[in-house]
Amino acid sequence: MGNNLSWLQELGNTSVIGLQWGDEGKGKIVDLLTEHYEFAIRWNGGSNAGHTVRVGDKKYAFHLIPSGILHKQCTSVVANGVVIDPLKLLEEIDGLAGKGVDVADNLKLSRAAHVVLPYHKLQDQLSESKLAGSKIGTTARGIGPCYADKANRSTAIRLIDMLDEVRFREKLQRVVAEKNVIFGALYQAPPLDWQPIFEQYRACAEQLRPYVTDTTKLLHTAYRAGRRLLFEGANAVLLDLDHGTFPFVTSSNCGTGLSVGTGLPGAAVKNTLGVVKAYCSRVGAGPFPTEQNNPLGDKIRQRGHEYGTTTGRPRRCGWLDAVALRYTAAISGATGLCLMLLDVLSTFDTLKIGTAYNIKGQITDWFEPDALELEGAGAVYEELPGWHEPIEQATSFAELPKNAQAYVHRIEEVVGVPVKIISVGPARHQTLIR
Ligand code: GDP
Ligand code: IMO
Ligand code: MG
Repeated sequence: MGNNLSWLQELGNTSVIGLQWGDEGKGKIVDLLTEHYEFAIRWNGGSNAGHTVRVGDKKYAFHLIPSGILHKQCTSVVANGVVIDPLKLLEEIDGLAGKGVDVADNLKLSRAAHVVLPYHKLQDQLSESKLAGSKIGTTARGIGPCYADKANRSTAIRLIDMLDEVRFREKLQRVVAEKNVIFGALYQAPPLDWQPIFEQYRACAEQLRPYVTDTTKLLHTAYRAGRRLLFEGANAVLLDLDHGTFPFVTSSNCGTGLSVGTGLPGAAVKNTLGVVKAYCSRVGAGPFPTEQNNPLGDKIRQRGHEYGTTTGRPRRCGWLDAVALRYTAAISGATGLCLMLLDVLSTFDTLKIGTAYNIKGQITDWFEPDALELEGAGAVYEELPGWHEPIEQATSFAELPKNAQAYVHRIEEVVGVPVKIISVGPARHQTLIR
């Protein structure tokens, strides 16, 4: 890693957030920064997220546990805004134990977090299968139905409910009966039996009990005491329920909901690092103006190993979209960029950056989040010369080929935010700090 770490001391409480359609490399950045923090906090999404951290020859894929968990000095918090699938979480805890990572002392779960139950996952699948040609392409992790129940209130179940046998039995019995009527009528699905769900999830609740706490109180106490907080966004701004490419989005405010998902005021965050791939990828359906559904896109996918961390699906690939980045940097308030996977772009003669859209003959440089409008958008490109040298071994910005440096400078100009970190490989040391 480059040795220019002094700026890290000045970063203060920092939010790490994806500025594209997810999988930008947030896990690597959070793992890297956590060394300098005392709390790493997930505040949105659920096990739809897949955050990869590589340490030596070990690879970790985090879905619910913050990517900071490998740092013992840091408390990893899953705050109220996350929807927790207890089975996935316990699987993740066990997987970490198998790799010698014990989370007993430094994992905290919000008692107010909502729980993903089997009927949420079933509903996700049934609803998608009914959509035929207009599928969202969800991760089938039950995320949308769980957040819908949260908004619905009367059908919601939280961790605190699951810990109370009487409360959980009453709620689950009632909710499953209601789901059975709906699933039967809409999808002709056979009824679910609440009893085995109750038994299985009560056992999970007892396993999770030691981790469950009031994370809002924990975080406020830490904030008031001036402890260093690192916030790990899941998903990305273009998947934000309100500000993404609706309806091809996820069901949380992954670009804007940090306060909602933690209970901390916005002022608790001093800096926001926007994580950006040096190109663009998207998994699932929805508009993607700079997509290269051709051999160029195939080459990016192959070089970047672009297959989903959560579902294994091949990711759609294309050129960097500066229109989208200006928008997502603005929405998230990004004060710096982390430019990831720059090594994947070695060996291209020419690189392109989308700098405007052509929507029905109108040229615009402001992002259009409406999926139908955006679907018909063509990108207006600027071309830059590529480079052929491998860059995985670079240890400073100055060591990068001149054309790679020029590409980075141009990104800063067209997005209007400085690039603070450049990643040239998945490992911790393959990181250039500017
Ligand atoms: P996240 O969801 O934003 O945390 O990203 P994912 O983990 O889903 O996907 C990013 C992938 O890129 C992972 O497989 C990382 O190991 C990998 N990765 C991260 N940074 C780099 C990089 O600079 N170069 C290369 N080649 N791979 C990287
Ligand atoms: P990380 O945190 C990439 C996408 C899904 C789908 C849409 C809705 O790893 O960057 P959902 O299951 O959330 O209802 O799916 O959102 N999606 C992601 N794509 N990375 C993610 O997370 C994603 N989380 C959700 O592919 O298109
Ligand atoms: Mg991911």
